[in-house]
Order: sequence, then C-alpha cells, then structure tokens
Amino acid sequence: MSNPIPSLADLHALGAAQQPTYPDASALDSVVAGLRRLPPLVFAGECDELRGRVAEVALGRSFMLQGGDCAETFESVTAANIRNKLRVLLSMAVVLTYAAQLPVLKVGRIAGQYAKPRSRDTETRGDITLPAYRGDAVNGLAFDAASRTPDPRRLLDVYNHSAATLNLLRAFVTGGYADLRAMHTWNADFVHNSNVESRYEELSDEIGRALAFMVACKVDNEAFRTVDFYSSHEALLLEYEHALTRIDSRTSTPYNTSAHLVWIGERTRQLDGAHVEYLRHLRNPVGVKIGPRSTPDEVGALVDRLDPDHEPGRLTIISRMGAERVRDALPPVIEAVESSGRKVAWVCDPMHGNTFETATGYKTRAFSQVADELTGFFDVHEELGTWPGGVHVELTGDDVTECVGGVGELAEADLSNRYETACDPRLNRNQSLELAFLIADRLTSGRIKRGTTEPVFHLEDF
Ligand code: PEP
Ligand code: CO
Repeated sequence: MSNPIPSLADLHALGAAQQPTYPDASALDSVVAGLRRLPPLVFAGECDELRGRVAEVALGRSFMLQGGDCAETFESVTAANIRNKLRVLLSMAVVLTYAAQLPVLKVGRIAGQYAKPRSRDTETRGDITLPAYRGDAVNGLAFDAASRTPDPRRLLDVYNHSAATLNLLRAFVTGGYADLRAMHTWNADFVHNSNVESRYEELSDEIGRALAFMVACKVDNEAFRTVDFYSSHEALLLEYEHALTRIDSRTSTPYNTSAHLVWIGERTRQLDGAHVEYLRHLRNPVGVKIGPRSTPDEVGALVDRLDPDHEPGRLTIISRMGAERVRDALPPVIEAVESSGRKVAWVCDPMHGNTFETATGYKTRAFSQVADELTGFFDVHEELGTWPGGVHVELTGDDVTECVGGVGELAEADLSNRYETACDPRLNRNQSLELAFLIADRLTSGRIKRGTTEPVFHLEDF
C-alpha cells in the first residue's frame, strides 16, 4: 500500500506558511531522518480514546479544558514547572467538574508546544534587524545573530523535552499525585488572601467530605487516584510533525504520534495550504483556530476538508475572535457548520484576540476582556441552542504578572514584577482559578442547553 501521507516535498509544494528558513538543508535532512527512527511519544490507541472524549464534548455531554504555556521553553522543563502547570489544570478541572457537575476533558497545551507562528518574520531593535524568535524548536530568544539563526538540531531537543515532560505527566496522573483526596495539597502554598482561594478551599472541604462519605460506604474507587490527561500542541513545523507521523499497525492509518491532539493556527489554516493538507490525513482528533475575519464559507470549506466523514470528535474548532467581535463574528460561523449537520467541539480561546501592548512595552491581556470574550461565547451558544464545548487558555502554574486585572487586581505597573513568558502573556494561578469559577457559574446558570442525553457524573470522568 502506498504511504497515505503526502511526502514533505509534496506538502511544501503547496506552500507552507510560517516555516523557518534553515541555512543548512542537509543538516535538516539528517535531523528528520533521525526523528523518523525514534519511537512514538503517544500511542495511537490513546488518540482514539481522546477522539471518543472529544465526541462527548461535541455532543454536549462534557466540557473541554485545554491549557498551558503559549510557548514552552527547554529551560522550563523542570519537575516543579510541570507539576505546577498540571496542578492548576487539575484544580480548574475539579472546580468545573464539581461546581458544574460535568465531566471535564483535560488537555494540556504541553509536551510539544515549542514552535510559534509570528506576525513578523523579523525583529528590529535600534538599527539591528534579526529573524524573529519562533520558539525554542527553531531558534533562541536572545537577540543576537547566532541565537536567532534557525537550527534544525533543536527539533531533536523538542522530541527529548516532550518525552521527558510526558513521562513525568504520566507518572503524576497515574502515580497518586492527582488523587482527588490530595486536592488540598495541590494548592497548599497559596497565599490565602483572596475570594478565589477561599472559594477553592470551601470546595475542597466539600469534596473531601463527599469522598470520606464514599470511602466510609466502601466505595473506594480507583478513579479517585488517577486522572485522564492528554497532550496537545500546534502542528506548525512540518518537518517535525511529519517525522513523528506513523502508520498505526492496528489500523494501517496515519497518526501524529507527537501528541494526542494537534491543531493548526489562524495563520496556517489556508484551505489549499500544506497544513490543512497534512492535518486532513491524520486519524488523531484535530483542531483549527478561527479568528474574527473568518467567513462562514471559509469555515464551511475547512470543515468539509477536515471532517469529511461527519465524525463527532474528529474536529475541534477553537474560536479566538476577541471580546469586541465574538458576539457578531461567531454566530454565522456556528450556523454554517451546524447546518452541514456536523457535530464539532466548539472551544473558546479568549486569549489570542485580546492581546495589547502597554505604554511601557509589555504585551498583555486584561482579565476583564478574557472574561468578556468567554461570556460572549456562552451568550452566542445559548442564543443558538448549541453547546459551548470548552475553553483554550494560556496559563501557567506560577504566580507570574503577565495579564492585568483579576482578583489580585494586577495593574500595568505590576507587570515588570514577574513577567516571564517566552511569547504571549499567560494567566497566573489565581487568574486561572478565577476563570474556572466564572465558567462553572455560567454553566450552572441553567440557561445553556446541554447534550440530548442527560450528563451523568462518572467518577472516572474527573
Ligand atoms: C497560539 O495559540 O499561540 C496562537 C498563535 O494562536 P492563533 O493561531 O490563534 O493566533
Ligand atoms: Co499564544
């Protein structure tokens, strides 16, 4: 049988946006050959399982929480960082599961999110212009010619750092760290001075009592101990993604084995471009980002291509319209897709349409605008009777100062305290939890229509 995935050359012939220009093509070839020999990072069966979980989201029976760094860096691959990111996602998931009484699908933007699309190919400081930083997968952040020159050997570092991250995540989620009975300890080092923290404490107490009751009743379920957690990243660099695409021996179909779910971004979703062509061949669940200028026709054509079999769970559409546009730009797009009879997972990214620069030069986002886009997303779905399936957020487990507002009322003047992101500004731990409560409150407001089958709360869905 011929390989069902187009060759790299065929993909490049279609025109691939946002690719680095490597000065040494033969070095790139040998890295790609090396990557092709390395074992997969995820198992195709896990991707199938995730497709089933995304189908539950598409059908209105579950809510997807997707989050992590804008750009992971090699340096940030430490046990503490990975644990902190995981615990903020788990804490948010508990809030959503318990408060909204809904199964929550947990997908990290992690273990592979090392490449960034950029609005400009170059960066100028003073009279020096260098290639833009495209993520650790491509070049270095330092502003000098050597760091900014794309180096293909970094793709091997991406593989190794993703493997190390996934390995620890797998240990955490199956080895007891995610035990619901330990949820107090996830946030034991919180400074207890805000509403969000006390609300979280109250919720943990309540869950603790409920679990103690179940244990007393001899319902000591294994599901308290472990949690399902999946990895995802933007499939941006064709060489890397292609090299990690393998034919599954069980089904003879191709899977991207570098993550459970991959998506393509607002800047690479050209209908006839290389990224759409690549993505459409995969058996993984896949995602596509859509911005405020996407038209219903354009999105209709994209879903035809990416979900030809009308398979719930196959496609997640991540809208990132901006707080100002979501209420008018999203409805026609939803109507176009729904009228095709497809069931896709509708997920809101309230981050990428709401970025601005402060007078002092910090790229930031206002918590109020993030919340406003989410509210708009919920309003739109409520109006149309469709299911607002999830949220996609850039966050970190640390107490950084990158987005303004939120419960700590972070001001523009505070941004310099701990501004650590390698790319876009992320919600810190408090802001992330606050967002989770906000979503839970909205989902329990009773006005949003859930899936046709009443959602059943299974312990294993935590
Ligand atoms: C991102 O997710 O980091 C990103 C660049 O998003 P978008 O493609 O939506 O701009
Ligand atoms: Co980003």
